[in-house]
Amino acid sequence: MSSVSIKTEGLTKAYDGHTVLDNINLQINPGEFVCLLGPSGCGKSTLLRLIAGLDKPTKGKVFLDDRDITNLPCSKRNFGIVFQSYALFPNLSAYDNVTYGLKNRRMTKRQIEETANKYLEMVGLSGAKKRFPSQLSGGEQQRVALARALTIEPDFLLLDEPLSALDAKVRVKLRHEICSIQRELGITTIMVTHDQEEALTMADKIVVMDKAKLMQSGTPEEIYDHPQSRFVADFIGAINFYENEGETKAIRPEKIVINSLPGADSSEAVLTDIEFRGNFCRLSARSDAISKEHEFYIDLPTQRVRELKLCVGAPAFVNMPEAEVLHFGGASRS
Ligand SMILES: Nc1ncnc2c1ncn2[C@@H]1O[C@H](COP(=O)(O)OP(=O)(O)O)[C@@H](O)[C@H]1O
Ligand SMILES: [Mg+2]
Repeated sequence: MSSVSIKTEGLTKAYDGHTVLDNINLQINPGEFVCLLGPSGCGKSTLLRLIAGLDKPTKGKVFLDDRDITNLPCSKRNFGIVFQSYALFPNLSAYDNVTYGLKNRRMTKRQIEETANKYLEMVGLSGAKKRFPSQLSGGEQQRVALARALTIEPDFLLLDEPLSALDAKVRVKLRHEICSIQRELGITTIMVTHDQEEALTMADKIVVMDKAKLMQSGTPEEIYDHPQSRFVADFIGAINFYENEGETKAIRPEKIVINSLPGADSSEAVLTDIEFRGNFCRLSARSDAISKEHEFYIDLPTQRVRELKLCVGAPAFVNMPEAEVLHFGGASRS
């Protein structure tokens, strides 16, 4: 499979004068796994549909490598697509679903068989070829959908919330499988998700969107460690905002240092809640030195909570390392 780059320039879509996608400039490199991440209704699926050619933009352009494909019909763009709803033919076996897209290609029966078998094996379904969708679990149906998208040997892969309808355990397992298949094939992939954990664990690059706009794009680490706006900081990961010295500042709960004894630069705090989350605890605390109004969260390994003998009501001492504090400008503007 060849790897293509995908670019959008000023991509805009309006329905009845209402802009649902506003001037999107994207650069996706060959072989990259990109996640479009944002709240429901922000325009993720619309962006994917415009790249697929399933919809026409109101303004702007789409490029595949350096070729302007804005006016190229969907059927000529050679992409594979998987949706949240498995969209399999209920009356066809897994095998027939997978080979469906090959029917109109100039391929011999043998070539069709080899291709279908290759991708069914890749998604771990060699033994389930003859089963009908109703005889497959949700996760298996989504594997069939993925194999079907891949058999046409597409230039790029589009996934619209492919894991959202699945159970937590299956979802995590499929995450890994999709990533390893994507890497093995080196196929440029765009996945839509509203699940930050999915984006953080799967993507080479995350594109964060809100209200029709692109808010920030970068590696998962860049987005998490250096969010450029309150929205991005708040949407990805947990974060404490506080006003201090006329400025809006923020810090991730795991970056706050807590101790049972006072230290240099520490402020006294009172723990108001300890939420057990298995391997870590989320503590709620209050400290006048940080905010008179708000409680803030601190995440700490459970083991450490026990070592420090932290408990609700007891005093504790916290400090916020300056290097970990994020700055979001004047408090009045936020
Ligand atoms: N065919 C359409 N006609 C009118 N409005 C639409 C249409 N498709 C999507 N929208 C609107 O565009 C906005 C973005 O939708 P969508 O791209 O599906 O969001 P997301 O995938 O991020 O949840 C929503 O407000 C939605 O109601
Ligand atoms: Mg959507």
